[in-house]
Amino acid sequence: MKDYIIANFKMHKTSTEVRSYLNSISKMINDGEKVYICLPYTSLYFAKKLTKPHIVIGAQNISDAEEGKLTGEISAKMLLDLGVSTTIIGHSERRQIFYEDDKLINRKIKTALKNGMTVIFCIGETRGQKNSKRTVEVLTKQITEGLAGIYENELKNVIIAYEPVWAIGTGQSATPAQIETTVKDIRNAVSDLFSKKAGEDIAVVYGGSLDENNAKKILSIKNVNGALIGGASLDPKKLMQIVRA
Ligand code: PGA
Repeated sequence: MKDYIIANFKMHKTSTEVRSYLNSISKMINDGEKVYICLPYTSLYFAKKLTKPHIVIGAQNISDAEEGKLTGEISAKMLLDLGVSTTIIGHSERRQIFYEDDKLINRKIKTALKNGMTVIFCIGETRGQKNSKRTVEVLTKQITEGLAGIYENELKNVIIAYEPVWAIGTGQSATPAQIETTVKDIRNAVSDLFSKKAGEDIAVVYGGSLDENNAKKILSIKNVNGALIGGASLDPKKLMQIVRA
């Protein structure tokens, strides 16, 4: 089994729907299996109460600020108070739709790590960038700016999620060869920034149209530590098939 199978619900499911989803997952999941489920804020409180420790409940975003006059924002402290210590940061939908840039994402990562949280740090190139052969350049910039000022010993709490933007929600995942090459480039960028060991040790997962049908092929790539799953994760049966792939 791979270390990190992470569901990203995005803005799907009411808390009533999440409750029945988690009941299903709880019945299906065996000892020794583990899954991360990143939920909308509105479901976090009871999800934490409902689930066993091998279902790790995470958030999808946090504020870069500790506290303040910031209408609509949620802080690290608020999540930790619920027992939620994992969060996605820098998802491409946050970058594109909510204009989050590398500097803001860097501040969010620093705030999360300072509070002892685990960060699922998303990076990825658009189709245009891929077509103009800028993938490595784009990912290196996202990594260099996103992880600026972070101590190497904090990287144990960072999972990099490589999510090509062109593969998210399109039904067209990257090929195993593309993933393997790009994950190697990502590890090299982390090595250049920190150390050779840091690049080898950091957890890197793949996301983008990963489902129960292609999971086995993608998860058997050696340098990939797991998956971040959107659409397919909304069905508990599919998520468990991916966990077992
Ligand atoms: P997808 O989404 O699995 O629906 O492509 C992945 C993600 O955006 O995290």
